[in-house]
Amino acid sequence: METQLWREMLDPYRLAVDELVVKFTHVKQEYQDARIYSPIESVTGRVKRISSILDKAHRKGVDIEKIEDKIEDIAGVRIICQFVEDIDTVVDIIRRRSDMIVKHEKDYITKSKKSGYRSYHVIVFYTVQTIKGPKNLEVEIQIRTLAMDFWATIEHSLQYKYKENMPEELRERLLSASDAVGKLDEEMGSVRDEIMDAQNTNRRRAKVVTDILNNIENLYHIANEREVTKIQNEFFDIYKRNDMELLNRFNKQLDVLSETYNAQSIQSLAGNFMDI
Ligand code: GTP
Ligand code: MG
Repeated sequence: METQLWREMLDPYRLAVDELVVKFTHVKQEYQDARIYSPIESVTGRVKRISSILDKAHRKGVDIEKIEDKIEDIAGVRIICQFVEDIDTVVDIIRRRSDMIVKHEKDYITKSKKSGYRSYHVIVFYTVQTIKGPKNLEVEIQIRTLAMDFWATIEHSLQYKYKENMPEELRERLLSASDAVGKLDEEMGSVRDEIMDAQNTNRRRAKVVTDILNNIENLYHIANEREVTKIQNEFFDIYKRNDMELLNRFNKQLDVLSETYNAQSIQSLAGNFMDI
């Protein structure tokens, strides 16, 4: 196939990858904005290189004309989670979405591949809009933990180096490293609640600090400068004490103070208005 034709064929896949990376990154953002722990840690995507498509087609005996039907991972999106438990949540999110239809799922977590590869794959149908009209195509979404991703990245580069001739000893080491990944994820799962708690606390703390700083900034415009400086110093003292309760109380007091000032300025505005 000519380069131009390849480009035309692959263009919609690029669009699909770009769109899906934006969409899943937004899911993470929504969780963060709601100050809820996000099951998604990061999202990446890629369109398979032409040489890799040709390699795979050759390996599987697929005709060039049948590539789009037979090769499911021309467009690939990878979603990385912190914990194995998060993978189920992400798969549920995908199943519930109305902008993609699940074609099938491959669970290489319950049972890892012979190589030791662990990951959960969901193949979806996804439609992109092009100047020639809508195009429905397949996208492979790989969902895995940070630890699984670490293993797959290393193993992939070794596969690349050795092709089919990976030394037996190395293969065995990778298998035992994959077992270690399984155990690590299991261990991390047992402290997940505590880690999630810590992350949620950090986020709540960051939100209160932002609220306080906004309040102080607003007060700068309406209150007496000396008073605001005093408030600011008080805030620094409380901040250093690392006590969430104190921070919350201080924030509430600032809210009340801001409201009082606002009320006063509205009153004085009203007063001026009456004078006219
Ligand atoms: P088969 O290999 O014939 O089962 O089909 P397939 O390659 O279309 O599907 P599979 O689910 O095996 O692989 C899809 C993608 O998963 C690959 O392109 C890789 O990104 C990844 N993958 C699968 N197996 C391995 C592996 O052993 N090691 C690594 N690093 N990645 C793998
Ligand atoms: Mg494969």
